[in-house]
Amino acid sequence: MIGDRRILFSGMQATGNLTLGNYLGALKNWVTLSDEYECYYSVVDMHSITIRQDPAELRKRARALLTLYIAAGIDPEKSIIYYQSHVSAHAELAWILNCFTYMGELNRMTQFKDKSAKHADNINAGLFTYPVLMAADILLYQADVVPVGVDQMQHLELTRDLAQRFNALYGDVFTVPEAYIGKVGAKIMSLQDPSKKMSKSDENPNASIYLMDDPDTIRRKCKRAVTDSEAQIRYRDEQPGVKNLIDIYSACTGKTPAETEKEFEGKGYGEFKEAVGEAVVSVLSPLQARVKELEKDKEYIDRVIRNNAERAGATAVKTLRKVQKKVGFPERPR
Ligand code: TRP
Repeated sequence: MIGDRRILFSGMQATGNLTLGNYLGALKNWVTLSDEYECYYSVVDMHSITIRQDPAELRKRARALLTLYIAAGIDPEKSIIYYQSHVSAHAELAWILNCFTYMGELNRMTQFKDKSAKHADNINAGLFTYPVLMAADILLYQADVVPVGVDQMQHLELTRDLAQRFNALYGDVFTVPEAYIGKVGAKIMSLQDPSKKMSKSDENPNASIYLMDDPDTIRRKCKRAVTDSEAQIRYRDEQPGVKNLIDIYSACTGKTPAETEKEFEGKGYGEFKEAVGEAVVSVLSPLQARVKELEKDKEYIDRVIRNNAERAGATAVKTLRKVQKKVGFPERPR
């Protein structure tokens, strides 16, 4: 708690091009949450190097992501948006937590299994202990709530276990965080295979709408979206393609799926897809304009980066010092 406000932590990786799914499913929601919670939103670049990255590219994307946080409407004077790598306490706490995490626990992580299958030539120790770094992220700030997708739930469970384990040994050191449940953003699926999540790493460029796609590309991708031969715009599981488009349209316009169904009752898929395309353009165009404007103001972004890393660091180091003392590290003479 800070004052009477609960603390929220979340992070996103700057790898791959962000998609409409990242925006509607997470980022847009972060903006809303920042009114209610004391928020830490990190660009988790230390997590990114568990997979081999091109250094210049990673740096560029990390800055673009941080800029996007601001463009989306997160106020960097209120919420803390920062690069994970700028606060060294993350690495220091992660090391300590590594010594309280069992191999068996990490072996069970489904994301580790998936990622090591996908990157069989680089199954590094960082990939294995990735969830411990994530636990350090969250616990450093004594976060009460963490909004995460289902794919990260197992990592959050581990974070809770670690916090409880540590507290049981040393007294109340960590807040045990909870998953944010409430209205989480829409889950947006691939436009080409609506059984899969829209992903920034999809090989098929038509499957995902990227946040920086130009209007014509967005319209074209919507037009080509896979639907079915039912010829009715209904929000139901039997029509996953149409359902996904209704979700996208609803999230972009603020309408409910039922209202969207009604609006397009008796209309054809062609007309509907066109409307979806326009709705997406009307959300992404202003966002892109704001990103471009912010990018021009290098000094402002630099100032945000510096100030917020300082604010985050000041909080993080308090928790870190407590932990270091608990585990028996020598005091720092003053
Ligand atoms: N692992 C998360 C993901 O890939 C990103 C992340 C890192 C995160 N640290 C976090 C999310 C802490 C929430 C809280 O989506």
